Amino acid sequence: MKKKEAFFKEREKLLHWFLENQRPLPWRKIPDPYPIWISEVMLQQTTVTTVIPYFKKFMEQFPDVLSLAKSSESQVKAIWAGLGYYNRAKQLWRASQILVKEYKGEFPKNYTTLMELPGFGPYTSRAVSSIAFDEPVGVLDGNVIRVLSRYFDWPMKWWQGPDRLELQFCVDNWVQNFSSAQMNQALMELGATICTPQSPSCLTCPIIEYCQSHKKQTVSKRPLSKPKKPKQLWLWQAHVHKSQLYVALTKTHDLPFLKGQDVLPGKAQLLSKKPSIFDFKHSITHYQIYVTVQSTSHSRRFRDKNIYWVQLNQLKLYCPSSLIHKAVAFIKDRPR
Ligand code: ADE
Repeated sequence: MKKKEAFFKEREKLLHWFLENQRPLPWRKIPDPYPIWISEVMLQQTTVTTVIPYFKKFMEQFPDVLSLAKSSESQVKAIWAGLGYYNRAKQLWRASQILVKEYKGEFPKNYTTLMELPGFGPYTSRAVSSIAFDEPVGVLDGNVIRVLSRYFDWPMKWWQGPDRLELQFCVDNWVQNFSSAQMNQALMELGATICTPQSPSCLTCPIIEYCQSHKKQTVSKRPLSKPKKPKQLWLWQAHVHKSQLYVALTKTHDLPFLKGQDVLPGKAQLLSKKPSIFDFKHSITHYQIYVTVQSTSHSRRFRDKNIYWVQLNQLKLYCPSSLIHKAVAFIKDRPR
């Protein structure tokens, strides 16, 4: 019984701290599922500081799910340019179509139904249903994993199924009997601002007196580090077919690092060691890509079944990835 009361007290302290200290983030103004969804998708793999200007621009252009559904996939991708993980933009657009067609533009209020939409994994579904609708489910992201692993001093292999399930169970439990909207955000906020990966500010932590890792001086050892996947080395021989104002793109390619995106035509090859000759290199997640760029001048009337032409000043609409822009710029900047 005593233990249960203590568990209530610490969560109360955490919540109190959050209500007093939360950052005034633009998506926190109203509990509307649309901005919450957009922000949560943007925040995956990306920091709050990077996301804020993208979020504002996105909301200006697509203020609600209807305007998003009426747009084109390429307009959404263009706004996303620079944020990376472009499949997120594609899925966002696809989900908006279904929300409008099948749900009359209203969001389902529980995470299990949300999970049926494109791009709605456990994280996004739980974040939207709890933050917008207060569904009593926990949200597990990197910040929360760190907070819980330290709090309980758990040496969990959080990247593996069974341990992850246990952490999910733990955070589900943590948000019970409180507003799950506030409690989930409190945990994420603590992880983002105080319980940070390097040099956490333990002395300002609202629940320091209950933290097992602080007590045992294991904070720097929690959470365990996920073993790093070695980077794959690729050679990409890209072709810039250019007319004066146009460049040729292709949809048919098998680049593992830009799956599902339109790219410059070319050839890719997995390498066993770094090549000695290349024009520049670029890294995407666990791919190290060595790029060579060849250019050919063409009339736009040049046809090939695998290519189509786009205006150079609209390239961003078709290819948000900076890898493509670097390759095109490389040709422009190359001394003749
Ligand atoms: N990171 C991702 N989502 C967040 C949220 N809602 N609050 C704080 N940090 C976050």
